[in-house]
Amino acid sequence: MTLERTFAIIKPDAVEKNNTGKIVAHIEKAGFRVVSIKKLHMTRAVAEGFYAEHRARGFFGELVDFMSRSPCFILCLEAEGAIAKWRDTMGATNPEKAAEGTIRKIFGGSVGENATHGSDSPESAARELAYFFAGMELI
Ligand code: RTP
Ligand code: MG
Repeated sequence: MTLERTFAIIKPDAVEKNNTGKIVAHIEKAGFRVVSIKKLHMTRAVAEGFYAEHRARGFFGELVDFMSRSPCFILCLEAEGAIAKWRDTMGATNPEKAAEGTIRKIFGGSVGENATHGSDSPESAARELAYFFAGMELI
């Protein structure tokens, strides 16, 4: 395995519920290094650009409303095999189907409001990190 970086979001639902610190603690306990963490409130245009791959899906409008309704925290996480490891640590998209002990099982409320985001491939991780972070922020 190689040392990788992935992109994560602590989504608005989790921030609203005051679960940010608990989720960061879970991330560090799972063995990731937090390379960067930053708070931002996405505009609709930023959320639409980020989730552009889902533009044709029925839930797209709802997803953009959700992601832009209040602030989130964006993170760059580093670990051996970080991309797959972070998807495993988060659990399934639907918290009801997520394995016990995963972040979405513990902190997710519904399939739409599921506490965290994670890149699904090396290409997505590179695109998503570059979308939100300047190179000098990722040291
Ligand atoms: P993410 O991109 O946020 O890490 O989630 P994911 O890969 O597990 O799931 P994806 O299929 O990429 O969906 C992106 C986000 O859209 C919302 N969603 N809502 N109402 C619905 O049926 C539905 N399906 C997906 C979720 O916020 C999901 O994380
Ligand atoms: Mg996805």
